[in-house]
Amino acid sequence: MGNILLNTGKTFGFISEEAVNKYASQMKKNNEALENGTGKGCDFLGWNHLPSSISEKELSDYEETATLLNSKKIDVFIVIGIGGSYLGAKAVIEALSDNFLHLKNNHKPIVLFAGQNIGEDYLFELRQLLKDKEYAMAMISKSGTTTEPSIAFRLLRQDMEEKYGKEESRSRIIAITDKKRGALRKLATAEGYKTFVISDDIGGRYSVLTPVGLLSIAVAGFDIRALIKGAVEMEKASGVDVPFEKNLPAQYAAVRNELYKNGKHIEILVNFNPKLHFFSEWWKQLYGESEGKEGKGLFPASVDFTSDLHSMGQYIQQGERILFETVISVETPDNKVVIPKDDENLDGLNFLAGKRVDEVNKMAELGTMIAHVDGGVPNIKISIPKLDESGIGHLIYFFEKACGLSGYTLGINPFDQPGVEAYKKNMFALLNKPGYEEETKAIKKRL
Ligand code: PA5
Repeated sequence: MGNILLNTGKTFGFISEEAVNKYASQMKKNNEALENGTGKGCDFLGWNHLPSSISEKELSDYEETATLLNSKKIDVFIVIGIGGSYLGAKAVIEALSDNFLHLKNNHKPIVLFAGQNIGEDYLFELRQLLKDKEYAMAMISKSGTTTEPSIAFRLLRQDMEEKYGKEESRSRIIAITDKKRGALRKLATAEGYKTFVISDDIGGRYSVLTPVGLLSIAVAGFDIRALIKGAVEMEKASGVDVPFEKNLPAQYAAVRNELYKNGKHIEILVNFNPKLHFFSEWWKQLYGESEGKEGKGLFPASVDFTSDLHSMGQYIQQGERILFETVISVETPDNKVVIPKDDENLDGLNFLAGKRVDEVNKMAELGTMIAHVDGGVPNIKISIPKLDESGIGHLIYFFEKACGLSGYTLGINPFDQPGVEAYKKNMFALLNKPGYEEETKAIKKRL
């Protein structure tokens, strides 16, 4: 069981508990708007009851496809996608994997990502690596037209066809896209690739529990049923009928909105476990893309402690007082490492002898929390018992639900991303894309 605990006690003093409790009726209304589809962005609420509506057939399909791909004894599974078509899978796989998997000789394929940048060296080096590896890949794009993954797919598909031939490549490529629209759908139909559909009512950053995330998580060897079960538990624990006092996503949404109103405009997601680095990246996309609109929104940032205590720690302790921290704390690590006694004690560490490394980490966590609160940084703590599929499933749904509730509290549409188009328009104009002639003329004048 991966039940999570939420402790907002260390925000009181900066904001009052009474003010937070006043959000109860607003959260209920917001939750009802999500439930009944009466709020902004109501065409994109498919994520709300997604965990409990995933069918046995769908899960088996992902698992069977993963088994089939793995039966080809692949060394590498490449996931091509960007934004919501990449971060969820990356976050979950990294959270659940051995830190040094890529250097260990075991049977699981390594999952690598492409199309999440346009780095020429990245693509060159990946293609070099794949020359003597067995591999398969998933091309993921809801719109089917996003430039970054499309470039990567064109290159990697041609390499694959050269290496394995067209016929065998067909059994090594999975396309995950919209049901009907987009270039990827057309291409997948023409080539006869196995495809999975991203439902119209689920936006990219809410799609980790669809085939977008689940296929590659299954290929990496993780238990997608336990992940979904964790998410279902959190879905039930935050439904419309769950009162504010028990509804953790609603409480989190209320506290962060009240902090925002009181000048704490930057939320830093903190972990003390390096496996959570990409979970923070996923969270940043979820909150940044959902809330940063109409001149409003908390700015989502992240740090990995204790590493970043030696870089960002100074600012957090004494810089501008516009920050608060949300710490994800993992109660029990998977493994045990005890600090040994050293007879000479030249490093002066014998006071730690016999203690687990995690005990030191937990005291760093506690000490940091007290220091930062003393320095004017409110602290929210979210604990999960273990970093396993169930715990991650709980966390995913917790943050998704809270994001919807929080966005409605801010008064914006948490399910669109109109601002993402601006750079694309300029890039296409600069690259002379057909159809952008006017924009090309206009932008060239500005250079
Ligand atoms: O959350 C979103 O909608 C975006 O981040 C998209 O996931 C991202 O832009 C990729 O889009 P697509 O899956 O259409 O290629």
